[in-house]
Amino acid sequence: MIKKLSISHIKYFICLFLSAFVVIVLSACGSDFDGYVDENVDYTNNTFTVEETNGHKIGVSMPTKDLQRWVQDGENMKSQLHNFGYTVDLLYANNDKNLQNEQIKSMIDSGCEVLVIGAIDGSAIAESLETAKKAGVVVIAYDRLIMGSDAINYYATFDNQLVGTLQGQYIVDALDLKNTQGPYHIELFTGSSDDNNCNFFFGGALEVLQPYINTGKLIVTSGQTTKEQCYTQGWSTDIARERMENILKTYYADGTKLDAVLSSNDSVALGIAEALSAQYNGDFPLLTGQDCDINAVKNIINGKQSMSIFKDTRNLAAKVVEMIDAIISDETVPINDTTTYNNGTGIIPTLLCDPVFADKNNYKEILVDSGYYTEDQFK
Ligand code: BGC
Repeated sequence: MIKKLSISHIKYFICLFLSAFVVIVLSACGSDFDGYVDENVDYTNNTFTVEETNGHKIGVSMPTKDLQRWVQDGENMKSQLHNFGYTVDLLYANNDKNLQNEQIKSMIDSGCEVLVIGAIDGSAIAESLETAKKAGVVVIAYDRLIMGSDAINYYATFDNQLVGTLQGQYIVDALDLKNTQGPYHIELFTGSSDDNNCNFFFGGALEVLQPYINTGKLIVTSGQTTKEQCYTQGWSTDIARERMENILKTYYADGTKLDAVLSSNDSVALGIAEALSAQYNGDFPLLTGQDCDINAVKNIINGKQSMSIFKDTRNLAAKVVEMIDAIISDETVPINDTTTYNNGTGIIPTLLCDPVFADKNNYKEILVDSGYYTEDQFK
């Protein structure tokens, strides 16, 4: 334990010391140095090599740049790996499964020793994962578990079940379901059927909401309660908007008031909020989300979304870098869950980070005071 702590921490403190030294020297010289990121470098789709490398190369494969969270994930991974001297190959796959497969193969060919993969569709990258396994490359599934492959060595994510639980509990508390009679009307939306996380998001929320649905205190007016009926393919804002519009037209045209909508994330919530805006004004239904995307936080501030789950990607990146460092140094890899995530080939040792919820009462403290966003970004 002491040995493990000392190696990672000594490197970390050396990094901190050197960074502080550089900042002090540059500011003493009157430089306009304003942080770590070099504006002249396109970090997003290239191999980024640091001058003082530790000789190890890591591949980071992210699903898309369309959603803000994945851009933040990639940037955080890259800069934190860079701090430890790693060369980073960061690629975004444009939500194209075949492209992700090709990109992973090119990372293996170029000598990456560890791959961190936020998969679009785990089953579509079986071929490149097989190549990784044969080449002895260690694979960490990032955020989304890659199913059915025995090439996955570790999984790093936020507690996905807890994400759903927090969303469900928010609705229970906001409607005061324990102390009021109801009935209240609710509709349910989750994410893409090819994303294993949905089992946990939807499952976690339903575990909390189902008892109230069973007693009739919560009524799903559309009757659409199964996961299959509630999927939003590709986590698409447009698909979510269309489904919400159809539900409103078909089941709420008689004036039935919709009290709450469960949405597993922010891109889906955005479409739902657009559909609701056409019908509700002021008495907006409760609406959950996840990621604290800037547009979602704006909606929280203006009353069109009630809450979002904050997953601090800085923490997840820091934990994954610790895992990588342990893998490269042949030390014990830090994990904290060995029971929950079975990808069909067995339990995958997992590192879970804690999500929290943000709403209009605490978003400043959670998102602005923590330095994740500036208040200006919500204007
Ligand atoms: C992630 C969410 C994200 C969603 C859509 C899920 O796997 O856990 O944070 O909103 O994908 O990209």
